[in-house]
Amino acid sequence: MFLTPEALQELTKIVGQNYIFTDQETRNHYGHDETEDYVFPPNVVLKPANAEEISEILKIANKYKIPTTPIGGRTGLSGGALSVHEGIGLSTERLNKILEIDVQNLQVILEPAVITQVLREAVAEKGLFYPPDPSSQGSCWIGGNVAENAGGARAVKYGVTKDYVLNLEVVLPNGEIIWTGANTLKNSTGYNLTQLMVGSEGTLGVITKIVMKLLPKVSHNVLMLVPFYRASQACEAVSAIFRAGIIPSALEFMERDAIDWTLKYNHNISVVVKDEVQAHLLIEVDGNYPEILMQEAEKIMKVVEEFEIDEILFADTDDQKNALWKMRRSVAEAVKSNSVYKEEDTVVPRFELPKLLEGIKRIGNKYGFKSVCYGHAGDGNLHVNIIKGNMTDENWNIEVTKGIREIFELTISLKGTLSGEHGIGFVQKNYMNIAFTSSHLLIMKNIKKVFDPNNILNPGKIFPDY
Ligand code: LAC
Ligand code: ZN
Repeated sequence: MFLTPEALQELTKIVGQNYIFTDQETRNHYGHDETEDYVFPPNVVLKPANAEEISEILKIANKYKIPTTPIGGRTGLSGGALSVHEGIGLSTERLNKILEIDVQNLQVILEPAVITQVLREAVAEKGLFYPPDPSSQGSCWIGGNVAENAGGARAVKYGVTKDYVLNLEVVLPNGEIIWTGANTLKNSTGYNLTQLMVGSEGTLGVITKIVMKLLPKVSHNVLMLVPFYRASQACEAVSAIFRAGIIPSALEFMERDAIDWTLKYNHNISVVVKDEVQAHLLIEVDGNYPEILMQEAEKIMKVVEEFEIDEILFADTDDQKNALWKMRRSVAEAVKSNSVYKEEDTVVPRFELPKLLEGIKRIGNKYGFKSVCYGHAGDGNLHVNIIKGNMTDENWNIEVTKGIREIFELTISLKGTLSGEHGIGFVQKNYMNIAFTSSHLLIMKNIKKVFDPNNILNPGKIFPDY
């Protein structure tokens, strides 16, 4: 317990009696996100009103050396928002406004606790488009998306969160409030502190305002679901589609189990899947000219017909499209409801996808675990859900850890890396030495030290324990 009565009194003075919580229920609530079944309650939860209050809180945290963990929408999958060293849980929930949609410059200025879908809908009303669409878009917050550099299905054509962040207001661990850059599309002015903050998982500063670029809204899309008799061929088809000259706006892979479990979990979605089907690709193209989209869809059909496939399902109506997307977006929840699991966020250059999938299954057989794979195949980003099922706790803790290490060694040997979009956070930190040498890690640790010499902000994340 880091909180002396004195420290608590000073924190209460900053946020006011109504925004400081030490009761067990609130601490538990803010002690978990969507990462497996971890719960790390902070000693105290604070809900500051603005950047100035956050600045004062961080000054107190430095004075008394209190670990402080920024908490957003708590939908993360790597444990970035878990208070693993207890201390202060700093919820940004009151900073929840879209401050300005600038239709002259195609930009938006907003606070971190805006739900991603709320942002997407608000800009769509003005004829604008914010493409990043993590599966949790209905509940995740834009601040967390920036902190983890979240992706989503549309990333394959439109890029990830980092590609939309122009400038950030950040409260540094010492309490200083800075803007990291400028509200410009181009910027070659000194080190890029904006992009250093993006994906820094709440370890370098607390994000309090975000300036993002937007695109004009895209009017049309075509969505198809392609069933493959062999999962390996579904993976091979992915790079073949790009080689045929098409950049789909989404190219998602789902193994058989991912679909079966999701249909069981979501009774109101009906997709008939033949017994022989091993995997699906969900493929979307978008644009403003329907004739061109039809030509692209035909080109894609030609490519996939070179493989052993069943009949392609085209989504004709918006309802059908929404149902297919709902199915895809609920895979993670469906798996979670089925068994204790661990989720890895592997990513490789897309042509290596068949080797990655084959390797994951081989490693699973070696260490005795089942995996369900799905994800953003167009980005070479495969989510690997390792299922506990009826494994013993001992095998789950020892054998699976060895297996995960081998999966990550495989991703690195294929010139990929540990996480495409979920972050390292708490759960992947001890695998970082597979991706980086000790001198790489030292550079990163030294950067952390420059920002946060007392290691008060989100300690216990990113860097390996040993
Ligand atoms: C998805 C999340 C888990 O792709 O990243 O559904
Ligand atoms: Zn994903």
